[in-house]
Amino acid sequence: MNYRHAFHAGNFADVVKHLALVSILTSLRKKPAAFAVVDTHAGRGLYDLKSDEAVRGGEAASGIERLRDQGGGSETLRLYLDLVRGVGEGRYPGSPLIAAKLLREQDRMVAIEKHPEDFRALAVTLAPFRRARAVEADGYARLNALLPPQERRGLILIDPSFEAPDEFADAARAVGGALKRFATGIVVVWFPIKSASAADAFCGEILAFGPVKALRLDIAVDAPPGRLGAAGLLVINPPFGFAQDMAATLAEAVPRLGREKPARTEIRTLAGEN
Ligand SMILES: C[S@@+](CC[C@H](N)C(=O)[O-])C[C@H]1O[C@@H](n2cnc3c(N)ncnc32)[C@H](O)[C@@H]1O
Repeated sequence: MNYRHAFHAGNFADVVKHLALVSILTSLRKKPAAFAVVDTHAGRGLYDLKSDEAVRGGEAASGIERLRDQGGGSETLRLYLDLVRGVGEGRYPGSPLIAAKLLREQDRMVAIEKHPEDFRALAVTLAPFRRARAVEADGYARLNALLPPQERRGLILIDPSFEAPDEFADAARAVGGALKRFATGIVVVWFPIKSASAADAFCGEILAFGPVKALRLDIAVDAPPGRLGAAGLLVINPPFGFAQDMAATLAEAVPRLGREKPARTEIRTLAGEN
């Protein structure tokens, strides 16, 4: 496991993924019934953007640093920026910390991380949150045992590092297994777009599991040569109003991202009406 998210924290892909996370959790919070969050590839939870890794990666400069001091008409964008500013100057919150901050008394989260050092950092980050649990394990293997959650509502975030050549197959299998056990769950899976056909095939494989509703969000930036320039999120069973909220939020946020040219985004309905 060579991948360390510290090199990429706060980049364009993190921004879009975390905006989607905030939008979904805001929707879940609208009903009093408890929800559960499972983050299968959680990372450290909090990143120091002044660390050697982050400075060497330099990716936040065309990501969160383009937005940090801005306002926003979209409620999702405002809440996301408040959460980012809340962790302090020069730092960036990962998905488990963002989710932990949005849990209510009745909700809970399990955040899984396999890398021992990142797990230790995650455990420290989540220690103040009684409703959030950090687990050192393989996220794919542990997911099955956690589903369906007793709450019968919630979100599964699958955000692998795509280091292994068969990671697309592993991620697709994980989504299939999750839908089998928890057909009504919201599942978000992140994927890199290095080849359009590989990304389309991955989404096609997941659609073959027959989800009732599915939405795909893509984002592309003018990355330097050799760096990832595009990524996608597949959202299964998005909450009511999610597509509209993301359309408005991304229309505001995405053109500010990128190095010299504004980033681009596209939202596609792949199944059902969103
Ligand atoms: C893209 S990063 C996660 C970023 C995080 N979700 C966020 O948005 O802040 C992927 C993480 O998965 C971890 N990882 C890799 N393989 C894993 C596995 N099989 N199970 C759990 N974690 C894994 C890596 O160590 C890395 O920290």
